[in-house]
Amino acid sequence: MPHTLSADPIFTDWRAETGRVWGGVAQRLRHRLHEHPLFSNEALAQLIDIYPRRHYSLVQWGEHGQRSAWREGEIGDLTGAQVIEAIGASRVWINLRNAPMVDPRYRTLLDEIFDELATRMPGFDTVNRTMGILISSPKSRTLYHCDLPGQSLWQIRGRKRVFVYPTTAPFLRPEHVEGIALRGVEVDMPYESWYDEHAQIFDIEPGDMLHWPLNAPHRVDNFDCLNVSMTLEYFTDEIRRSHMVTRANGILRTQFGLAPRSHVTHGAGFWMKAALQKGLRNLPAVRGMDRPRKRPDFRLDPTKPGAIAEIAA
Ligand SMILES: [Fe+2]
Repeated sequence: MPHTLSADPIFTDWRAETGRVWGGVAQRLRHRLHEHPLFSNEALAQLIDIYPRRHYSLVQWGEHGQRSAWREGEIGDLTGAQVIEAIGASRVWINLRNAPMVDPRYRTLLDEIFDELATRMPGFDTVNRTMGILISSPKSRTLYHCDLPGQSLWQIRGRKRVFVYPTTAPFLRPEHVEGIALRGVEVDMPYESWYDEHAQIFDIEPGDMLHWPLNAPHRVDNFDCLNVSMTLEYFTDEIRRSHMVTRANGILRTQFGLAPRSHVTHGAGFWMKAALQKGLRNLPAVRGMDRPRKRPDFRLDPTKPGAIAEIAA
């Protein structure tokens, strides 16, 4: 791991105090990845050209953005360049969920980013790092939800408004995180519009990056333009321990009718919970239900950018 920064670091406005509040607060930083060759339109189009079907999600969202109105589709015979053009003219987003697995150049970049973070924050050791690339249509929305890993959102193209909410009740309750840890459903968290009065609101543009406290609920509204964003996910030892306690508490709550109060991630209490969640994780009632992949409902229409071709049942 390098202990000196490269001559051309990825973060361009990092200050000494940035690392001291990392993970404790929501903060916006500046980066230069929007000018990186791997995020040019040509590179993204080429990535889509080789991207395996099973590793992307293509979703058409409904008028009011509810998840119940989401439909999943396929890119069909379109080239990557045509896919990007179609998304700009439709109500669709594509999530390339794990770019480094598909193209090793993104793995190299992912490692560079985390090496720089570890240089800037000694002891910031991360595992299970992934990079997703999200290309989303004008006015596309991401609903109120929270994520289990550490997360950051990097804006490459377009503009969006990001709402980040407190990690306390009623915005976030332990049951919400436990539900995600056990069942993998991120977007069924209760949300009321007045929550926004308590959100930190960031309008982000190319070159902005956001990072927020672990599990902080958030939602995103695109402005009226095509958006390209990148998300990084990671675990540290502390996040991994927190995740184990969350799973154990979820099991105690749902299977044993208890109301666990402690979220301690060290000592005897932690190790008991670590063993509990490991021992019970294969019980059918506990095992995260893999969401069955739905048959796609639509395909992008190669003859007209933004048009949708229905797939017959
Ligand atoms: Fe998220």
